[in-house]
Amino acid sequence: EKRIGLIGAMPEEIALFLEEMELETQEEIAGTTFFQGQWADATVVVCQSGVGKVNAAVCTQTMIRQFAVEAVLFTGVAGALDPSLDIGDIVISTACQQHDIDAGPLGYSPGVLPFQSVSVFKADPRWVRLAEAAAEKWTESQVITGKVLSGDQFIADPEQVRQLRETFDGACVEMEGAAVAHVCHLNGIPFVVIRSMSDRADHTADVNFTEFVAASARRSNAIVRAMLRQR
Ligand code: ADE
Repeated sequence: EKRIGLIGAMPEEIALFLEEMELETQEEIAGTTFFQGQWADATVVVCQSGVGKVNAAVCTQTMIRQFAVEAVLFTGVAGALDPSLDIGDIVISTACQQHDIDAGPLGYSPGVLPFQSVSVFKADPRWVRLAEAAAEKWTESQVITGKVLSGDQFIADPEQVRQLRETFDGACVEMEGAAVAHVCHLNGIPFVVIRSMSDRADHTADVNFTEFVAASARRSNAIVRAMLRQR
């Protein structure tokens, strides 16, 4: 059977998978443990990538090459950019973009990868629909689809939130999704990012993040479970 890759950055973001899956094998590659087994009527490969774009990219490429996953689902928490979002609400990626790439002196706009045709990576529409349906059915939270922005920065500044909205029209901001998306694009593998809001990326983001990371991560995990069952 084909395998589905499930990635989260932090322990909280893959906790439910590891608790519930029927583990078959585990293997360490590049300092990361890849857990393979049965969960939610699917053969899954689970890993905790660690935080940031490089960690996420290495794990995604490993999932694709070493485990031949047919799709990659990234689950976790994010900072809300869209003012209609509350903590706990859900964003399903329609696309992902790296907000911290900037080759301005070469004539490229912020967020554009130089010498490369694609910088906004589109999520797989079928997986997006599945995620949206699962989130609407299984959570009380508001669910929106939109662009997920990623960079190697924890955002905690309303002025930066305003800029990210204005420049990129992002729904939320985190630190891995666009790296996963980029690697999936290079390999021709479908992906979707599912994020529950842990904070509003403002002056209280650090406090809110610490308080809400576990509950929001679990909400995102539960959506992935429902998606796989309805697939
Ligand atoms: N993940 C959760 N909240 C975040 C924030 N404010 N900035 C970056 N990544 C996040």
